[in-house]
Order: sequence, then C-alpha cells, then structure tokens
Amino acid sequence: MTENQHRSRDGFGSKIGIIAAAAGSAVGLGNIYRFPCEAGNNGGGAFLLVYLFIVLVLGIPTMLSEFIIGRKAQRNPVGAFRALAPKSAWPLVGFMGVFCAWILLSFYSTVSGWTLEYIVKAVGNDFQGKELAAIERDFSDFHNLGWRNVMWQSVFIFLTGFVVFNGVKKGIERYSKILMPLLLLILIILGVKSLSLPNAGEGFRFLFHADFSKITGKVLISALGQAFFSLSVGMGALITYGSYINKNDNLATTALSVTLSDTLVAVLAGVVIFPAAFSFGIQPTAGTGLVFNTLPMIFNQMQGGYFFCIIFFVLLAIAALTSTISLLEVMVAYLAEELRITRKLATVLASAATLILGVFASLSLTGDTKFVVGRRPLFDGLDFFSSNILLPIGGLLTVVFVGWFMGKRKFFGEITNEGQLKLKMKGVILFIIKYIAPVLIAAIFINCIR
Ligand code: TRP
Repeated sequence: MTENQHRSRDGFGSKIGIIAAAAGSAVGLGNIYRFPCEAGNNGGGAFLLVYLFIVLVLGIPTMLSEFIIGRKAQRNPVGAFRALAPKSAWPLVGFMGVFCAWILLSFYSTVSGWTLEYIVKAVGNDFQGKELAAIERDFSDFHNLGWRNVMWQSVFIFLTGFVVFNGVKKGIERYSKILMPLLLLILIILGVKSLSLPNAGEGFRFLFHADFSKITGKVLISALGQAFFSLSVGMGALITYGSYINKNDNLATTALSVTLSDTLVAVLAGVVIFPAAFSFGIQPTAGTGLVFNTLPMIFNQMQGGYFFCIIFFVLLAIAALTSTISLLEVMVAYLAEELRITRKLATVLASAATLILGVFASLSLTGDTKFVVGRRPLFDGLDFFSSNILLPIGGLLTVVFVGWFMGKRKFFGEITNEGQLKLKMKGVILFIIKYIAPVLIAAIFINCIR
C-alpha cells in the first residue's frame, strides 16, 4: 500500500473520537450482562480480585499491543500481520481473529436482541407491580419463543450493518461520545438504589469479599476470558481500530483510559446487580436471568422507575451496538481489504454470515432445543469457545508477536510516536509484554485445559 492509500483510509478525527470508539467497543453487554453472570458463577469476590489483576497486568499490555500492530501496519488484522511479518504464518493469527469475531457476534447479537425486547416491554409498562416469579416466567417464556429472539437478533444485526455500511468515522464516532457517559450516570443512580434495598449488604459482600480458597483453575480462566472479552482484546478488533488512530495520539494513555472506563462500568454493574439480586432472592448463579430479572425488579421499586427502565434499556442497546459495530468492522475490514470487494458488499456478506450462525445460537436457548454441544446449548458453547479459548490464544500470540517478533525499534518507535513522547515506562512496558504477559496467559490457559 502506498502513502496515498494510507491517507485515504478512514480515520478518527480526534483523540476523544478514538477513545470513545474503543471504549464503545469495550463497554457493552460484556460489562453489564456477562460480567455479573461470570462473577456470580465463580464465587463473587474471588473472581473480582483475579479479574482486576488480570485486567491490569494482562489486559492493558494486550490492548496496547493491538494498538501498536494496527497503527504501525494500517491494515485489518490479517493484512497487518502480513505487512509486519511477510512470508510467515503470523497472518493466521489475524485470520483466527476474524473467525472469532464471527462466532462472538453470532451469540452476542442474541443478547443484543433481548435488549430490544426489553425496550418494548419497558415502554409497554410490562414490569410494573409484578412479583419476581412473574418477571422470571416472562423471561423464560420469551426464551422459548425462538422466532421472536431471532427477529430481534435480525433487527440488531441489521442496525449494526447499517452503521458499518456508512463508514468508520461518520458511523462510530458520532454515536459513542455522548451516550456512554450517560450510561455511566444511570448506572450510578441504579447502584445507589440497589445498595439501599433491604439485605443489600449481603450482595455487596458477595462481590467484594474475596475468599482465596475459591480461586480455582476455572475461576482463573473465566476471569481471563471475561477480561479479554470485556476489553475487546484477543481477536484484532483493536488492531482494526488501532489502524485508524492518529499518528500523534498517545497509545499508552489511550489504552489506559479505555481500560479504566471499561472496568469502572463492569464493577458498577456488579454493584447494581448483586445487592439487588440478594435482596430479591435471585441466586448469583442464575446465569441469563441474573441481570435480565434483577433489573426490572429494581426499576419496580424506584420512583420514576418506568422512565429509568426505558432509558436504561435504550442505553444498554446502544452500548451493545457500539460493541457489535466493532465486531462486524473486523470482518468487514478483512473482507473489503483482502478480497478487494467494496465495503458495502463486505458489510452485507459479513452480516449475512453472522445471522446464519446467530439463528442457531438464539434457537439453542429455547427449552426444547436440539442445538446443543455436549450437554450445553450451542449459545454457551460458542461463548465458551470464543471467550475462554480463542481470545486467550489470540491475546497470547499478539503479545508474543509484539514482544519477540516485531522488533524493539519498531516497538519503541510506535509507542513513543517516533520519539516525540517521553515515555518513562517504555522499558517496563516492553518487559511486561515480552515476558510477564505471555507466561501468565499461557500458565492460566494450560492450567485450565490440562
Ligand atoms: N467488549 C465488548 C463487551 O464487553 C464485546 C466485544 C466487542 C468484544 N468487540 C469485541 C469482545 C472484540 C472481544 C473481542 O460487550
């Protein structure tokens, strides 16, 4: 690719634009839906502690590595590895990322569809005055209507395709900037409410009291998978976004801001969900129902709950959308640049491929489903495979590539903007990327599969 072509690539207009877009990718259902589920299933406080450690020590370096690869190479994940390591097998890592995006988006769009169903329920004042049992019944009835899940999922994939269709800058930047801070605000309001409920202390303790004996191999790999999932790292989404980052932006502080915002939202979601769930008598291990049943119950108890409920689910849908955009973008950038087809055609193809697998993911959650792997619904299988296997492997290979194969000169050049930035920590950062991150990721991963 020539310099000219580089310049003609769609980019982010401002620093806040890229932070907003990357944070938009990171903040999503992973924080508000998946984080409480995983924490609930893995012992609460012990999980949170491991999670925070992993985000700090493994998440940030992996995110930074993706930004470095993307901005240096100015390509989609496959093209980026090919540009930086010609005639090697590294492009396969990028390819694995594109494949992972497809799987992730297929089941992610199922849950995204639920947010639309819940907007409709909220507007129709469907929760008001209902007992927990009724709210739980409605949720499982909805699960059993496979076609309705598929309908909302299709709508959501269409929305995602629509934004991606219209290009990176116009599409992504505009939507993320204002709405994510609003989501944060509403989470704070909900957190205050949740903590004031009777018996809330028990849920709070569940989340913040770490019982070290509960840290098992499964907790470690679940926390690793959740951390990478939540930060959107391990499959090249941030290589793709990195390729749009301005040459003068500070990659390290960008990675730090994105990580901090993402983690703040996840912990806040925990503060909203667990005290309320314990107060209402919802088990922390309830899985899908944990979040989707607890939230309406909170709104039920609130002054102005009707409006808060609508606003919340609208914002949640938008948070999901800024994440699905980044997943679809990985597939689209790959198809458009590698197969040399137009962005529009690439968008249509990637959306169609997602819907095909996604339908099975959605239908696997109905009570009488035939779509199971092992004894679990296909939905869970896709989630487990992508989050706990593909993302850790992808993340591992990414840090190994940057630490060992890209070359020190290129690394320091990219992280300091060719010497413009005085980054005191740059040696430490390289050390973490080169030694600590790969060893720890590999150790957690091997400890779990052996
Ligand atoms: N991080 C998003 C969330 O928490 C999901 C997501 C978007 C993602 N893009 C990704 C996960 C890329 C892994 C890789 O909801």
